[in-house]
Amino acid sequence: MAKAVKTIGVLTSGGDAPGMNAAIRAVVRTAIHEGLKVKGIMRGYAGLLSEEIVDMDSTSVSDIMHRGGTILYTARCMEFTTPEGQEQAAEICRKHGIDGIVVIGGDGSFRGAGKLAALGINTIGVPGTIDLDIACSEYTIGFDTAVNTAMEAIDKVRDTSTSHERCSIIEVMGRNAGFIALWCGFANGAEDILLPERYDGNEQALINRIIDNRKRGKKHNIIINAEGIGHSTSMARRIEAATGIETRATILGYMQRGGTPTCKDRVYASIMGAKAALLLAEGKSNRVVAYKNGAYVDFDIQEALSMKKDIPEDQYEIFKMLVR
Ligand code: ADP
Ligand code: F6P
Repeated sequence: MAKAVKTIGVLTSGGDAPGMNAAIRAVVRTAIHEGLKVKGIMRGYAGLLSEEIVDMDSTSVSDIMHRGGTILYTARCMEFTTPEGQEQAAEICRKHGIDGIVVIGGDGSFRGAGKLAALGINTIGVPGTIDLDIACSEYTIGFDTAVNTAMEAIDKVRDTSTSHERCSIIEVMGRNAGFIALWCGFANGAEDILLPERYDGNEQALINRIIDNRKRGKKHNIIINAEGIGHSTSMARRIEAATGIETRATILGYMQRGGTPTCKDRVYASIMGAKAALLLAEGKSNRVVAYKNGAYVDFDIQEALSMKKDIPEDQYEIFKMLVR
């Protein structure tokens, strides 16, 4: 049953992602356009529980489009995962007159959004994560910036690997997903990619490929290892011992989450944020905005959370074909 909303809140939750500011800006300005009042909720669900809630107007989101991170800050909050925490959060929303919330974050944040929706607070999720691991959406805000940052960093590591004729294991983020690793694999022309969705742990096969590559005259050997597999430093030690080729590990880490958002992230974030505010203005709740088959759509939160996403097998096969 659609419920009219007058005041909405917006929060960012989970890992930050470049482009979140563009999404916040779009939520705020669209809501104002629709005649709604907007409140910013600081530090995700933690800030909701501690009532860090500020009024926002059109100028609150001026001059933020090009900035990485999130002006609302973000957090992970255990207390909110309990039924008591969720009841308290819904009560705080009622106290502040907030009858709808846009939650910009990943799957975990959407689970929380679903709980708030069940307690009568209209909620809409917007996919914001560098990991690209939200099953209902082909795009997540932050992925493009992160993957470009990683690509540029890997290019630099490649230069020095070539000069020293070394093998390099470069670890990229992605939690349990291998999308950043797959894309960098293509974009950096890596010799190997280790994806959580595919890696069978056969290190001897990896070592054999490195030896084979060296015999074929390759000066460097770039292996992109996804965070979900990890252990890059110990893997480098074992590879060096087995091959006799100097091997170094580089863990790119949080640099992938920061920086100026790319054009793509700004545009997707703007459209997704605006769609989320429009859904609230229409009285909708318990939806996630997504990009699917070339269009911006929305799904029921529980349906979205039950969907599965995998590395496309044809893309993985093409990667392997291109390095041989
Ligand atoms: P992401 O949203 O990027 O996947 P997390 O998984 O850390 O990040 O989730 C962000 C926050 O969402 C958590 O700190 C918690 O407050 C909330 N959350 C996660 N899972 C649940 C859940 N099952 N029920 C309620 N809230 C949840
Ligand atoms: O979800 C984004 C992400 O950067 C993952 O790639 C990574 O596993 C995780 O967040 C790291 O989270 P934290 O900031 O809590 O260390």
